Amino acid sequence: MTSRSADLFGLAVLVSGNGSNLQAIIDACADGTLGAEVKVVISNRPDAYALTRAADAGVPTLVIEQGDQPRRVYDSELARAVATVGVDLVVLAGWDRLLSEAFVTHHTVVNLHPAKPGVFPGLGAIEKAFSGWLDGTVTSGGVMVHFVPDEGVDDGPVIETEEVPFEPDDTLETFTERVHATEHRVVVKAIDKVIALAARQPLR
Ligand code: GRF
Repeated sequence: MTSRSADLFGLAVLVSGNGSNLQAIIDACADGTLGAEVKVVISNRPDAYALTRAADAGVPTLVIEQGDQPRRVYDSELARAVATVGVDLVVLAGWDRLLSEAFVTHHTVVNLHPAKPGVFPGLGAIEKAFSGWLDGTVTSGGVMVHFVPDEGVDDGPVIETEEVPFEPDDTLETFTERVHATEHRVVVKAIDKVIALAARQPLR
């Protein structure tokens, strides 16, 4: 594992699934593109492949399942776990829960969403954009990373966004692949912007 410096920007990455965006973040930290360190990866799902990616990279992992806890109780537990590690920023990278104020009032949080700002919040954004393109109501797809100041769904001040144009022969599969490849770039650019912002002013 690369040696870590105490002044690196500390990240907690929250994941629920495959973790390809987590991988992009880990790689960008490792190759120096980001002056950051993933200090912890937290999953609400014990079988998330993202946990394997983190372990392979030597990043500490935590599995914190909601079980039958009420949402706000769970979110407080999560917030405490992140506070115990001590990070500058929480990145939601394929995290499949809506975080309540019991979490977002305690940490600076950013979320990655596979759609343009204000379009297709919630699940199925890629599929909805693609079917809109097929029926002529959508002209391009996109991805964005935004701050999560409250309980809004995929909504908040936009940090970085990029359009993903459709191509004439696109299938849902080829379009999805391009969206994901774009996300991997955009999430790293967005974190880099937040690091630059934090150097100028406290984040909270
Ligand atoms: C990404 O499309 C992300 O925008 C969405 O869930 C997907 C996670 O992919 N919220 P991965 O787990 O990072 O591969």
